[in-house]
Amino acid sequence: MLRLLPRHLLPPRAHRAISPTASPLSRRRALLLLGFGCCRGPPPAHSYASMAPPPVAKKVPRQLVDHGDVRVDNYYWLRDDSRSDPDVLAHLRAENDYTAAVMSDVKQLEDEIYAEIRGRIKEDDIDAPLRKGQYYYYERTLTGKEYVQHCRRPVPTDAPITVHDVMPTGPDAPDEHIILDENVKAEGHDYYSIGAFKVSPNNKLVAYAEDTKGDEIYTVYVIDAESGEYVGQPLKGITSDIEWAGDDHLVYITMDSILRPDKVWLHKLESDQSSDACLYHEKDDTFSLGLQASESKKYLFVESGSKNTSFIFYLDTSKQNKELVVLTPRVYGIDTTASHRGNHFFITRRSDEFYNSELVACPLDNVAETTVLLPHRESVKIQEVQLFDNHIAVYERENGLPKVTLYRLPAIGESIGQLQGGRTIDFIDPTYAVDPEESEFHSSVLRFNYSSMRTPPSVYDYDMDSGVSVLKKIKPVLGGFDASNYVTERKWAAAADGTQIPMSVLYRKDLVKLDGSDPMLLYGYGSYEICIDPTFRGSRLSLVDRGFIYVIAHIRGGGEMGRKWYEDGKLLKKKNTFTDFIDCAEHLIKNKYCSKEKLCINGRSAGGLLMGAVLNMRPDLFKAAVAGVPFVDVVTTMLDPTIPLTTAEWEEWGDPRKEEYYYYMKSYSPVDNVAAQEYPNILVTAGLNDPRVMYSEPAKYVAKLRDLKTDGNLLLFKCELGAGHFSKSGRFEKLQEDAFTYAFILKALGMTPKMASV
Ligand SMILES: *[C@@H]1O[C@H](CO)[C@@H](O)[C@H](O)[C@H]1NC(C)=O
Ligand SMILES: *[C@@H]1O[C@H](CO)[C@@H](O)[C@H](O)[C@H]1NC(C)=O
Repeated sequence: MLRLLPRHLLPPRAHRAISPTASPLSRRRALLLLGFGCCRGPPPAHSYASMAPPPVAKKVPRQLVDHGDVRVDNYYWLRDDSRSDPDVLAHLRAENDYTAAVMSDVKQLEDEIYAEIRGRIKEDDIDAPLRKGQYYYYERTLTGKEYVQHCRRPVPTDAPITVHDVMPTGPDAPDEHIILDENVKAEGHDYYSIGAFKVSPNNKLVAYAEDTKGDEIYTVYVIDAESGEYVGQPLKGITSDIEWAGDDHLVYITMDSILRPDKVWLHKLESDQSSDACLYHEKDDTFSLGLQASESKKYLFVESGSKNTSFIFYLDTSKQNKELVVLTPRVYGIDTTASHRGNHFFITRRSDEFYNSELVACPLDNVAETTVLLPHRESVKIQEVQLFDNHIAVYERENGLPKVTLYRLPAIGESIGQLQGGRTIDFIDPTYAVDPEESEFHSSVLRFNYSSMRTPPSVYDYDMDSGVSVLKKIKPVLGGFDASNYVTERKWAAAADGTQIPMSVLYRKDLVKLDGSDPMLLYGYGSYEICIDPTFRGSRLSLVDRGFIYVIAHIRGGGEMGRKWYEDGKLLKKKNTFTDFIDCAEHLIKNKYCSKEKLCINGRSAGGLLMGAVLNMRPDLFKAAVAGVPFVDVVTTMLDPTIPLTTAEWEEWGDPRKEEYYYYMKSYSPVDNVAAQEYPNILVTAGLNDPRVMYSEPAKYVAKLRDLKTDGNLLLFKCELGAGHFSKSGRFEKLQEDAFTYAFILKALGMTPKMASV
């Protein structure tokens, strides 16, 4: 089953959001361009001297005293939880205007790149339909439209599901029905995102969770799947974790004042939200709740988890009395996830001893009687399992690469023992990504999504009995893309302590010289045990087709090499994440994959912390950096339990109320370590409504850099005023951010076709 996802994560399995009092901002408000602060600041950057000077944030010194240590924060005032303070908004707007002015000479290039990226997309398309019960379900995109339509078509046969099934679409085929058109729902909203779309077990109703601000606080609507009419009143203030418990109940999760998912609720359709029953309240503020339905749909699992402990309740959806029952107990240091099939629960269990997890099963009626199905292995980490009537698919990692192993299960009713003779799926690229996809439980067909940096996302149906796989859908890439022009490879760099760090590399073989003169974009993340797998991205081709080498550094703190990889890059070992990244850069330079003069780096969120840290440690090593929604004010944020995620992440970064952690954190926290030195060209982004990394962290970081840095390089800040952690919501709007970022990188490297002379 899926796991709870943490803060600064990329794919939105969002739980967190800002204070509900946040006032929507009028974009039309007059620009108060120079109406803030004092005027002292660094001299204008030499190379952009003819431009208006960059905005200078006023200084309002605030003493922060902890453990007898004094820090002075001149920009604390930039944090405004209501997001409505006129001085703060004026400052953010001034930063945006300055950024637009500085980038105006490459606006045409940005537009060209945008057109290029968009030109690779087949705008009218459907994804691979999934046969579930009496329908094929799928999503459709339309030319020129930002959002998807959720569709279905009746299945005209009773024949069992096979890998060869094709949804009939001819004139005689049953009609397509559009259940929900997000384009219609998004009208009138600057931001629109659907966080969950759940069809009821009898296929008659749909519950969906909607966010219209980017703050990740959802409203849940139930509609009739045929007529689209609303059923009952919407549920307000919900996370995107919702599940059906039978055809007439929903289970959902809400958050406390610091946006921690803390309560599970049971809602009877068409009743008032205020009469919903709270099934569980997690009072420990280092724990957050998650919700998941079993593939069999018979059980819901509620997981309460911190960073190294989690325990589970189950709810039997078929029972009249819908209550939570303990499945795995709360034991500090033990982490569990659960699933169900037949007479058994299947549980993955991780502990300090069995750090890469083992898989066990227990009878439904005696959860204490566990049998080991897959023992703990030092070199193989169990990531996730997916269950079927007769099979189990185990998603694992070995030597940094994903692995999928299938086992046939004994018939239901028979006893279950250690799994033997698994079949492993072979993948072609030397470095690649595989994501599980929703599959039909009552079938032998595993659906997964494969890609590599040179292979577009490919949905396969795999027959777990015969091993036959059929490609159901490969994402079209227009604009003359030919995978055979590209090389993807895996390289290893040695860290100072001898640890070998894997990297995934992409380039065009006809364009690169590998003599040190090629430009490079090096990407990193390295937190929360998250694996940054080398997936395909159409927009990235705009760099690679301009001769860039693109590299992902799979540094410690991530999960690519197993649980230990994570533990060696968190808490008091966090600096391994940063030094690994630096070591990867040095390795690539030494091996002539790039040079300092052509090296750009990029990271988002916790990867933005990585950017801030390495820029302070080795500003000489890079030519340009892009820090997206960066978590850069680590000490101040982690000392403040009123900020979302702080309490939940003391086990990730450490608890700076303890002296040891305080000083360690202070030694790398980017805002605290900005120094009077030369920095490379830097672009920093933020989202005003971002609940995960408050916009004020990057705003303070930029203000302090401007004040102290001694170089004349670019320093730009772009704050989306109508979005959150995941930038804009529309699929084309999002591309604008890539185009802008690439234009910045090309400008910073002096690679623009016709640089306007300034
Ligand atoms: C919890 O996490 C920390 C850091 O990853 C680890 O050192 C510790 O042993 C874990 N388990 C327990 C039971 O404390
Ligand atoms: C799976 O498909 C989606 C949508 O096409 C894609 O964005 C994602 O990266 C894919 N995952 C992999 C491993 O390619």
